[in-house]
Amino acid sequence: MQWSINALRNELDVDASDRRQRILIGGSPYASFDAEADPTPCEEELIRASSLLALHPHLINKSFAAEIAFDEFCYFVNQTYFFEVLGFQVLSSMALSANSFEFLHEIGAQVIDEARHIEVYKSVISRFKYKSSVAKCIPDIFQKITSSPSLPEKAVKGFLVLESLAVGLFGSRIQFFPSSSLTVADRQILIEEVTHQSHALNAVSSFVSEGMITLDEVLDLMHAGVKELAFEIMPFEVAERHSLGLDRSEAAQLLQGGILKTSAMISRSNMRRNLRALKEKCGAKIQ
Ligand SMILES: [Fe+2]
Ligand SMILES: [Fe+2]
Repeated sequence: MQWSINALRNELDVDASDRRQRILIGGSPYASFDAEADPTPCEEELIRASSLLALHPHLINKSFAAEIAFDEFCYFVNQTYFFEVLGFQVLSSMALSANSFEFLHEIGAQVIDEARHIEVYKSVISRFKYKSSVAKCIPDIFQKITSSPSLPEKAVKGFLVLESLAVGLFGSRIQFFPSSSLTVADRQILIEEVTHQSHALNAVSSFVSEGMITLDEVLDLMHAGVKELAFEIMPFEVAERHSLGLDRSEAAQLLQGGILKTSAMISRSNMRRNLRALKEKCGAKIQ
């Protein structure tokens, strides 16, 4: 970022004419989330949500099935926590390459949200006996985003692709587990992630209008990113834990049922919505 007093003054003038500021400090948005309550959903919901059980319908021992389904639930909440940590770290890397104060303000606002998300999921996973390991894709994603050659590319991968995947995870959990106390927090966090994306669309459309990246390049990055990520968060670890003999070549089949199917559908439709909005914004700026 250029440290120029004139640039700062110009930006502050712009800020003064734009009163649509986000309110960063206030009461906790998760006041109605009870961190002390047991987040375990009822058995029926757990079994219906399990992608592993959708692939193994022959498992007739109900208590064994419920154990697998519960571990799968724990696994995805653990991965949610790791994704939130990843989001937080990605923002810090973007802060280092921020090219304007406006962009930096946006990063700051999101950092506050992501720090709260980390705290919420940390409190939930601390209740589970089963601690899953970090999915392999998470350090890979961090590496890919931080080593991206430009700020616009980092922003597309970090804001639009990663957030779309997160929206799928939260949205599917809300649908499958209405009996879980976690649903209250998931719902609020989903609203915040959607807000992050709408701010990201503004930032990315500005990059396009400033000629820092083309719209076609953005679209390619978004398509490639989602395709790559969809297969990376499979609960292989849970399958191994229960000796289900799941072959890694069966990964695609896990997307055919349960929570993974719904999550992928939500991510894709979220991505399509973002693409439409981005095209509209860029079109409007070009005209
Ligand atoms: Fe988040
Ligand atoms: Fe976010």
